[in-house]
Amino acid sequence: MAAVLLCRLEDIPDGASRGFDPHGEGRDTVLVVRQGGTVHGWRDACPHYGTTPLAWRKDAYLNAGGTSIVCAAHGALFDIATGVCTLGPCLGQGLQRVELLLTPDNDIYIAPQGARRPT
Ligand code: FES
Repeated sequence: MAAVLLCRLEDIPDGASRGFDPHGEGRDTVLVVRQGGTVHGWRDACPHYGTTPLAWRKDAYLNAGGTSIVCAAHGALFDIATGVCTLGPCLGQGLQRVELLLTPDNDIYIAPQGARRPT
């Protein structure tokens, strides 16, 4: 499977999140959080119920302080870098990582399967 272009790094403000519908499913299924020159990709599905979308409105994936990913349904918090639930009903479970590629030209792609994680 070919890499899927999501956006450019500067399309996501530093410290912010954005949702994407890369497979045309009619809703965002992938979220990206930018931390400086690093991007973290996760499936937009809370492990508490498995498929519940995380955001309560478009692109609202982070808590008020921007320090964690939050599930709007029951308030679970997830570490942005590891996806591990740090508070809430799915404590210890984690989000499913979506491997991303950040090119030298600052394009963000969903990596083809088997591709190396960006550093
Ligand atoms: S569905 Fe996410 S915390 Fe319950």
